[in-house]
Amino acid sequence: MISEPILLQTALARFDSLWSPRIVTRVNDYDVRIAKVAGEHVWHVHENTDEFFLVLEGELTIALRGTGDDGAGRSERVVTLPQGAVFVVPRGTEHRPSSAAGASILMFEPAGTPSVGDRHDPVPGHIDVTTGHALG
Ligand code: NI
Repeated sequence: MISEPILLQTALARFDSLWSPRIVTRVNDYDVRIAKVAGEHVWHVHENTDEFFLVLEGELTIALRGTGDDGAGRSERVVTLPQGAVFVVPRGTEHRPSSAAGASILMFEPAGTPSVGDRHDPVPGHIDVTTGHALG
């Protein structure tokens, strides 16, 4: 089936919920999801899949464990992604996305991938535990 073109700006205007990804289309068995984010997500890990991020608006920060040295004995580092940046969190890497001022992001990952991963810290109420909602 041939779908219609999707304008991401139009898709983003159709919802307001934070940390609640919407599925805009599918490529083979991967979902293309968009989300509005602000504040902190939760530390989590996807055991079996990498996770692709593209920043559409604003700035996204991703803290990563096991990938650097913060100088205090913890192996943690933070990447800052401006609008237009892409970044891949490798499978098995603990990460925590955040955005102090808010951002809109696009994610690309296998359909059914939980947004809080396979393992995670306790999930605060402002985070939607989902594998992606239909755009509606
Ligand atoms: Ni993740």
